Amino acid sequence: MKGIILAGGSGTRLSPSTNSINKHLLAVYDKPMIYYPLSVLMLAGMKEIMVISTPADRPRFEELLGDGSELGISLSYEEQVEPNGIPEAFMIAEDFIGKDDVTLILGDNIFYGQGFTTLLRNAIKHHKHATVFGYRVKDPERFGVVEFDHQQKVISLEEKPVEPRSDFAVTGLYIYDHRAASFARKLSFSKRGELEITDLNKEYLKREELDVQLLGRGFAWMDAGTHDSLFDAAEFVKNIQQRQGFKLACLEEISYYMGYIDNEMLMKKGKSMEKNDYGKYLLEIAGRKHTQQYWESIDQNPMLGLVENE
Ligand code: G1P
Repeated sequence: MKGIILAGGSGTRLSPSTNSINKHLLAVYDKPMIYYPLSVLMLAGMKEIMVISTPADRPRFEELLGDGSELGISLSYEEQVEPNGIPEAFMIAEDFIGKDDVTLILGDNIFYGQGFTTLLRNAIKHHKHATVFGYRVKDPERFGVVEFDHQQKVISLEEKPVEPRSDFAVTGLYIYDHRAASFARKLSFSKRGELEITDLNKEYLKREELDVQLLGRGFAWMDAGTHDSLFDAAEFVKNIQQRQGFKLACLEEISYYMGYIDNEMLMKKGKSMEKNDYGKYLLEIAGRKHTQQYWESIDQNPMLGLVENE
């Protein structure tokens, strides 16, 4: 399974904050926005991940995340020259995907909840052709909307409908087989001048190859694409972190508990930021007695938030 983070776009909804910096590099409380979707892919077990951004922003992402070796993963970078929509990412990444399956996550989507990693890992394990994740929202007209029957079989999909047929938004997390690029190539531009991910999903639906997984009320899903939602997301992260003392989307912590990096690397990263909270947190983890070697297998490590029998 390959991973893609789409971090392009012009970010006009966050202007002027995004006039000179890509939205996905803005901080959500104490770390850049892109850390959150990257943490989702890493926790799901992906080690080959491509970041797609604009030509102007690509060097900034490379500077921030490097080639991934310090996280024990492989990161590559590509460019989306114009904001032509989400499906274009599969054409850009076609060689990278090859014959593999692929999970794409939007760079401004934040997922959080007990059991989320387990749910995603199971979705990947049982995935056949295309899987999307539905989440109940108060304002479905702002999103792609999925309608399904009592057996969770998808009936319809609509992009930003004026009169939504259900309250379930399609989140910015999608799993496809290797045909995604060839299907994307056949799509036409919508009225808003983009290739629509909903149209790609409809292509799979037409073939009866689209599954939907619902994220229940215990999950938090946020997109941080407007000033209000960015502020809300930051507040959410701050509240959870301050209450529990765990950091959300701490990439080095995830790498460490996944067994990708050793104590020495964690120490090194912690020391490079030891004057701030993030660095201190890494040093604290590195100093804990119960390191990843403590559990029989990586998957049994409770620090990864995995839930049994889901
Ligand atoms: C995009 C998709 C939409 C999806 C949403 C999730 O919307 O087009 O189907 O529900 O992401 O964040 P956009 O961000 O382009 O408004």
